[in-house]
Amino acid sequence: MRLDRFIASQPHCSPRKARLLLASGRVLVNGQAVRDGTCDIRVFDQVTLDNQTLQTGKPARFFMLHKPPGCVSATADPQHPTVLDLLDEPDKADLHIAGRLDFNTTGLLIITNDGLWSRRLTQPESLLGKTYRVETEAPIDPVCIERFAQGLYFRFENLTTRPAELELLGPRQARLTLHEGRYHQVKRMFGHFNNRVTRLHRERMGPLTLDPQLQPGQYRALTPAETALT
Ligand code: URA
Repeated sequence: MRLDRFIASQPHCSPRKARLLLASGRVLVNGQAVRDGTCDIRVFDQVTLDNQTLQTGKPARFFMLHKPPGCVSATADPQHPTVLDLLDEPDKADLHIAGRLDFNTTGLLIITNDGLWSRRLTQPESLLGKTYRVETEAPIDPVCIERFAQGLYFRFENLTTRPAELELLGPRQARLTLHEGRYHQVKRMFGHFNNRVTRLHRERMGPLTLDPQLQPGQYRALTPAETALT
């Protein structure tokens, strides 16, 4: 919400009074005087007028979870356990998942209450890579390296996938880095070559790597350095 509108919406205030209060430097956002009423404030910002708190500022929350197989990347599910069931945190209803994983896919999952931050992490425009360890039923055809780098046509969405990097680790094992997140993308890319993905594990999202200390089902808060990286 724009700061001037937020101030004007306070009891006994008006747009004119809000402009005057802002111009006088009496409105602080996170401890700093802000005179530009057109700037946006978020639920995470603390706003004060003189010494009176107008908005306390919710704590922004960021977690990395080692997703185990057999749970749904959703906030609620009528049938199966969800990844949120693994979190012992207050305000779980405010949290969302930044980049879902399929039911049996394991690995790095990021959970937060900050929608702007999670969009920066997941939107294709930011070009942050997501790296997966893949195991397949049949040997991986080395031609996949070039074809994945060129992009594959997905008829359903009528699009060509962004260039992806495939590194062969063994006859049926590879590391794949994508720069977008289409529905079942890894499985569909290998499916294009009639190969079935038997195991899929996300190791990394942009600058965030799954903490090797986390066992499947465990999670921890991101450090300020980790949240600042995106
Ligand atoms: N691609 C898939 O096919 N599944 C996932 O869970 C993630 C990427």
